[in-house]
Amino acid sequence: MDGIGGDGAIVSALLEALPEPVVLVDADTRIASANRAARTVLPTLRAGEPLELALRTPDVLDCVRRVSASGKAETVSWRERVPVERVFDVHVAPLIVRNGSIGVVVITLRDLTDARSVERMRADFVANASHELRTPLATLMGFVETLQGPARDDPPARDRFLAIMREQAGRMARLLDDLLSLSRIEQNLHLRPEAPVDLVLVVRHLTETLMRLAQENGMTLEVVAPQPVIVTGDRDEIVRVAENLIENAIKYGAPPRPGVEPQVEISVTSGPREGVLVVRDHGPGIAPEHIPRLTERFYRVDAGQSRAKGGTGLGLAIVKHIVARHRGRLTIDSTLGQGATFVVALPLHR
Ligand SMILES: Nc1ncnc2c1ncn2[C@@H]1O[C@H](COP(=O)(O)OP(=O)(O)O)[C@@H](O)[C@H]1O
Ligand SMILES: [Mg+2]
Repeated sequence: MDGIGGDGAIVSALLEALPEPVVLVDADTRIASANRAARTVLPTLRAGEPLELALRTPDVLDCVRRVSASGKAETVSWRERVPVERVFDVHVAPLIVRNGSIGVVVITLRDLTDARSVERMRADFVANASHELRTPLATLMGFVETLQGPARDDPPARDRFLAIMREQAGRMARLLDDLLSLSRIEQNLHLRPEAPVDLVLVVRHLTETLMRLAQENGMTLEVVAPQPVIVTGDRDEIVRVAENLIENAIKYGAPPRPGVEPQVEISVTSGPREGVLVVRDHGPGIAPEHIPRLTERFYRVDAGQSRAKGGTGLGLAIVKHIVARHRGRLTIDSTLGQGATFVVALPLHR
């Protein structure tokens, strides 16, 4: 425990008093100390041994190495399937000592498996999904009745109603599509996709198909993608990520003030380890209290506006899940009145 300065006994006693699992790891990723809660979760934890003997998850180990090198705290998720399914948020933080060097890395585990909260989330989800489906269904039923009754002999009204019915049925179909993709992605969350995918080709292809939607919304798309950026993933899923973000920028990113270019800027660049997609608009932006919640299922800033634009409220939830499955990162940055920037970083293909 030399990284902490010799007061090993106090530190161990302190750790032991904490209810959450905590592991201290020294600079060469050997276990310096672990409390009882941590040993319950990871029974093979032994002081002095390398962390990887007790915890074989590459994502967590990579994260610990990154934090030891960078000195910046990070959180990764860790899902155990055997013997029972458990999900943890693993928070990894450096303990900077005296001369500013990193002596020890502190790993805290937060158990997200809490049966009650999972149950509650499921119940909320089912209630939300049913509500979203019931609204268009009620409209459809209403028009069926009208067509069978008062509008039976009124051809112009019939045409108008059929058009509305078609739109509502389309909305239900989109909702079911999104719900199914979400559940498929969730089921495969632990399987990391491995194919090489050129992010630039994905974006170029998409911007061609989204050009019309952009025109209809009075927006232009500008793409900066000077050279191929090959990331590791599943092409169809990466297409969905880029499509959702670009579509959102087109739908919600119209500048609130005249004089600002109604433009969506899309760039694809390559960092040392990651390919980075940035989608930026100059729209009204998003208030800070909404930003952390945008990726929740059915969360919208303005539900009416989203529905009017054919949204299901599931797009960013799908994006978040796909990015997690790819072991990538999603960041959302916005200042009210100044537009929004969505950044997706995906691991480069080796
Ligand atoms: N570029 C953006 N600018 C402003 N608001 C946005 C932007 N992108 C997303 N949002 C907000 O986030 C909400 C959720 O987006 P999303 O999950 O894609 O659902 P949907 O587009 O179906 O409504 C949107 O309804 C909108 O309120
Ligand atoms: Mg959307």
